[in-house]
Amino acid sequence: VIKMTDLDLSNKRVLIREDLNVPVKDGKVTSDARIRAALPTLKLALEAGAKVIVMSHLGRPTEGEYAEEFSMLPVANHLSQLLGQEVPLVKDWLDGVEVESGQLVLVENVRFNKGEKKDDEALSQKMAALCDIYVMDAFGTAHRAQASTHGVGKFAPVACAGPLLAAELEALEKALAKPARPMAAIVGGSKVSTKLTVLESLSDTVDQLIVGGGIANTFLAAAGFPVGKSLYEADLIPQAKALMEKVSIPLPEDVVVATEFAADAVATIKDAKDVAADDMILDIGPKAAAQLATLLESAQTIIWNGPVGVFEFDQFGEGTKALSMAIAKSSGFSIAGGGDTLAAVDKYEIADQVSYISTGGGAFLEFVEGKVLPAVAMLESRAQN
Ligand code: 3PG
Repeated sequence: VIKMTDLDLSNKRVLIREDLNVPVKDGKVTSDARIRAALPTLKLALEAGAKVIVMSHLGRPTEGEYAEEFSMLPVANHLSQLLGQEVPLVKDWLDGVEVESGQLVLVENVRFNKGEKKDDEALSQKMAALCDIYVMDAFGTAHRAQASTHGVGKFAPVACAGPLLAAELEALEKALAKPARPMAAIVGGSKVSTKLTVLESLSDTVDQLIVGGGIANTFLAAAGFPVGKSLYEADLIPQAKALMEKVSIPLPEDVVVATEFAADAVATIKDAKDVAADDMILDIGPKAAAQLATLLESAQTIIWNGPVGVFEFDQFGEGTKALSMAIAKSSGFSIAGGGDTLAAVDKYEIADQVSYISTGGGAFLEFVEGKVLPAVAMLESRAQN
């Protein structure tokens, strides 16, 4: 693909698609990891003397309708602070945007435009008409074939990959194409059904597949352990059994249970075989955590998506904490992605010790599954003609 860093941006109208889809509460950005990840790209374009127009989606508004709660205004304000320069928010932008060289403007939520999600051609052409160079830098949204991530790139005079997108692809390719071994993956989260394809594709590549959260409960049930009233998916037991035959999936020897799901629920450690009918498994136990930590410490490649317990509640966060510490200690190449995973990385303060932190959630998983990301396919085809 063509890279932004290979182009002369001076005095060019540069339209950059970022993924600035961040959590907002009461008009304030509550976690700015994605904004900070985009910052080097934006600074580079500004320093090169480009006229910079930035676009992104925020949340999932009803398409085609303005809704204040999904406005990019909090992001514009936050970005102004981080950049140390005023970032105007442009509300009506499809018919043209005024911007000077060395200036950066943010346009309002792309999903307020009808046709965005359908990758509408007329809308894509309007976006393309705003620029001389289109930069796709939103790795977190590269799995969406939408007007601002895909269609616009077909019509823009030049379409290229931004530094963040390029770095994400390079790090993931490095981890997955020729991984140093042994390779371990941690797949946590609540449901096997939402991660079945990623589990299946990882089972072909990794040496150890560590499962956690509700996902582990389905595997425990498949192995004949009692799971009480834990979250699990009985209909996916056959798939879980098939996976266990293909790859080593270490099941937790002990677990942390409670009889209710609440911030003040009392945590009890039990052997996995002793889980009672009214127990809910909310974390892996200390023995399991120690065992998995040892395994992770010797891994040369680690892929992490999803916590192994309900770590929002401290008493059910010890398992995720222990694995975080093991990843931090590992000398191998580690890569973490997904919203909950990044929250855990923040909570246990291991960001500096993880080799690569991906801004992608769904995009990260689709890449790991081996799927072609539509935005990347578009950039590849533009590089050829
Ligand atoms: C994400 O948060 O995973 C991306 O920003 C994509 O958002 P979407 O799932 O609403 O398309």
